Amino acid sequence: MTLPSLSSAVLEAHHSGIREVSNVALTMHDVIRLEVGQPDFRTPDHIGEAAKRAIDEGFTYYTHTQGLMSLRERLVAKLEHVNGIVTTPAGIACAPGGVGAIAAAIGALVNPGDEVMLPDPHWPNYELMLTWSQAGGLYYPCPAELGFQPDLERLEALISPRTKVLVVNSPNNPTGAVYPAQTMRALAEIAERHNLWIISDECYDQIMLDGAPVAASMAAHSQDGRVISVFTFSKTYAMTGWRLGYAVGQPEVIESVTKVLESNSSCVSTISQKAAEAALDGPQDCVGEMVAAYRRRRDLVVDLLREAGLLIAVPEGAFYIMADVSPSGLDSREFAFRLLRERHVGVAPGTAFGTLAPGAVRISLASSDRDLREGVGRLSELVQELKG
Ligand SMILES: Cc1ncc(COP(=O)(O)O)c(C=O)c1O
Repeated sequence: MTLPSLSSAVLEAHHSGIREVSNVALTMHDVIRLEVGQPDFRTPDHIGEAAKRAIDEGFTYYTHTQGLMSLRERLVAKLEHVNGIVTTPAGIACAPGGVGAIAAAIGALVNPGDEVMLPDPHWPNYELMLTWSQAGGLYYPCPAELGFQPDLERLEALISPRTKVLVVNSPNNPTGAVYPAQTMRALAEIAERHNLWIISDECYDQIMLDGAPVAASMAAHSQDGRVISVFTFSKTYAMTGWRLGYAVGQPEVIESVTKVLESNSSCVSTISQKAAEAALDGPQDCVGEMVAAYRRRRDLVVDLLREAGLLIAVPEGAFYIMADVSPSGLDSREFAFRLLRERHVGVAPGTAFGTLAPGAVRISLASSDRDLREGVGRLSELVQELKG
């Protein structure tokens, strides 16, 4: 018997080009894994202890879809003190990671055929979300020549009557670019002029390598209710496996986001929610210590790439840096596979992030200093060798 067909949109979609490299790396021994975008730190002990206590105390049932009131009250305080966003528990929906919050926001905002604007280069998961929501993608350039900042004129010129949502991601994955307050304001003005929703992915809000300790928040620059801001515990507290992020916006908008979440997750693990409360209540030194390590590694890799003539731009946030491998004469996907197979180093090819970084690879700074030194050394050698 022939089974019915699968969703053609999903069937035709591609897995992320980072996973392609990871899948091969996992079949090999002794690979330096610089393609993986997650902190190499353990979740701080006091957070883990709170989770164990939560199980003992019976926090093992469903919660409100938006999250425990006790967690959302703490998030209200965090958002005000850290991000300068004034909200209420009704304006917050907890979700399975930042990814769950962004997907639910897209589900709440778009109709099939609407256009969603994504930065190029961008985090690949956004594209998969467009697939199932049947929205079209418009890619606004954030080119290396501009230090990976958005080209605002070209962005505005792309907008059509079908354009509905502008996705902004600062601090940015994969480039590490952080948009200054005036750029956030300019993006908000464009959205106001063309009546677009903004999904502001601020998942790296507290991973700042220069200047202010917290990135400029879009919601502080656009106050007419068109912004859904997204944050996560994954990066700030090294909690990727706990799956807890949150969307913040107007309560009426969050109501729709919540309906989407209700359909696909009911609520986030109660144990993770109690752990997140401990993360917010506890000492914040762990955040500063991790950020200091990312900064030190950024400086190390910047020096190594500069010496090798492969530096593109100095990242100011998140924990990634793009390296120029174009002198090798290969496109970044081919280069990444040669580096993996011949030198046992995994990096994420620029081709995984859109069209604007075909000759660059992303290196994750969430790796040990030793791995970074060795991995970047082997990368530079391969570029030199191929250059002949
Ligand atoms: C730009 C960006 N947004 C959102 C996320 C979501 O992370 P999580 O779902 O673990 O909160 C990531 C994770 O890598 C990311 O890089």
